[in-house]
Amino acid sequence: MEISEARSLAHALRQLLDDAHTLIDESRSLPELVRRVTAHLGCGLTDLTCVTRSFKNWEHASLQKGVDAYLEARGGAEWFGVSGTGREHHDTIDIIAMSARGPEAGGIGAVDYVTTAVGPEETMEVVSFGLVLTHAPGGEPIVLGVRGAVERFGREDCRVEVIAASRPPATAAGQEVERLMRENDVLRGQILTFGASEHRGNQLVTFLPRPSIDPEQVILPDGVLETIERHVVGVARHADVLRARGQHLKRGLLLHGPPGTGKTHTVRYLMGRMPGVTVVVMAGTALRFVQEAAALARRLQPAIVVVEDVDLVAHDRRFSEEGSPLLFTLFDAMDGVGADADVTFVLTTNRVETLEQALANRPGRVDLAVEAPRPDARLRAALLRLYGGDLLAGIELEPLVTRTDGMTASFFKELLRRAVLEALRSGGQAETLSREHLSAALEEMMRSQGELTRSMLGGPESDRKGPLLPE
Ligand SMILES: Nc1ncnc2c1ncn2[C@@H]1O[C@H](COP(=O)(O)OP(=O)(O)O)[C@@H](O)[C@H]1O
Ligand SMILES: [Mg+2]
Repeated sequence: MEISEARSLAHALRQLLDDAHTLIDESRSLPELVRRVTAHLGCGLTDLTCVTRSFKNWEHASLQKGVDAYLEARGGAEWFGVSGTGREHHDTIDIIAMSARGPEAGGIGAVDYVTTAVGPEETMEVVSFGLVLTHAPGGEPIVLGVRGAVERFGREDCRVEVIAASRPPATAAGQEVERLMRENDVLRGQILTFGASEHRGNQLVTFLPRPSIDPEQVILPDGVLETIERHVVGVARHADVLRARGQHLKRGLLLHGPPGTGKTHTVRYLMGRMPGVTVVVMAGTALRFVQEAAALARRLQPAIVVVEDVDLVAHDRRFSEEGSPLLFTLFDAMDGVGADADVTFVLTTNRVETLEQALANRPGRVDLAVEAPRPDARLRAALLRLYGGDLLAGIELEPLVTRTDGMTASFFKELLRRAVLEALRSGGQAETLSREHLSAALEEMMRSQGELTRSMLGGPESDRKGPLLPE
């Protein structure tokens, strides 16, 4: 080797050593957070891409389940958090970049969790801020971040952020998380109500327990319950065959009748008869979320969307952008669900006449309308037996049945409750009732409570005249 060659080799070696020193120093001085992320991803901070998928706040538990399933399929991984404050306003990638400015800007910290409902009586801890090192479906290194809603900053969504050296693996991982999220959706098969949070009017989804009501507890004219059940439950039972034959599955049921005749009761009975079916219940102005509710029902089918007392908000124009009545929002949502979807819309109303015109103008939304009427004498006797049971042993029901002509089902439940109170008040036992207790309760309900209560409880039309309690 010539001397000049040796010199230039030595020179090059020294340069290499110098570079190595600087590199080591740089990475030493890099905060742990940045080092962890860039070392895993194999590239510098400035080369990172972030793909974000955001979801409604009430999907947070499902998102967590999706992420958990994703990580589990890749052998698990350890979550870590970021210390420091003020990060609510920033994307995770910015938070990591900021930490490069020095330890005071935030470093590796604890994972934040919140508790969220996953059933009527079940909760789950979900990550509200946390990161995890893992790999994309194609094997490329990625960092997953999960962020919850931060209501006080007006951030209503929860999201998963996928950070990677390039976009395709980040996108693929995000898609896979969402697929697993749908597969593990905690809302599936639940009874849910849509409402608005008092706070900001945000959409709120809460879980309700599934009622269990025997058919004997629903007192309706012969055949009514069977007709309803055949329409809602029967079609669901044969969904596959019907779908294969090109028959539509989507159905609309309208339950109408005076207040207290058992419309809600019947809906609750149906819920109990269809375990595993997703139910979304909406009442009042929460109907403005019906598009979301319908989308949810379609996704989580078989499903039922219940719109309670639809007449009360049908003509409300406050909540749509074009100021059209909420009823049209409902119709649009019903139309938006494909005919092949196993989704039933159940509408209840006390005043069917206010809907008739609208339903006639846009036919095809309701394919079965059923009345829950005021009970006739036979049904009134059945209601007395249902709610009175042994309490009425030895009491002749006939006069009571006659006197309660025009009353609705809920009236009988209340009548018996008051009669028991009456018996207790007069020093008697609550196990049996006398004719006097019943008469006193009946009198109280019909006279002293006045028109208001009577109409609320579903009493007869107020133009009814004549003695209510013949001697
Ligand atoms: N047809 C009925 N058979 C048995 N109980 C009934 C019936 N209708 C109403 N009830 C009782 O009265 C309560 C109130 O009735 P509800 O179903 O809410 O009336 P609405 O028709 O106004 O929806 C029910 O929870 C149930 O206990
Ligand atoms: Mg009701």
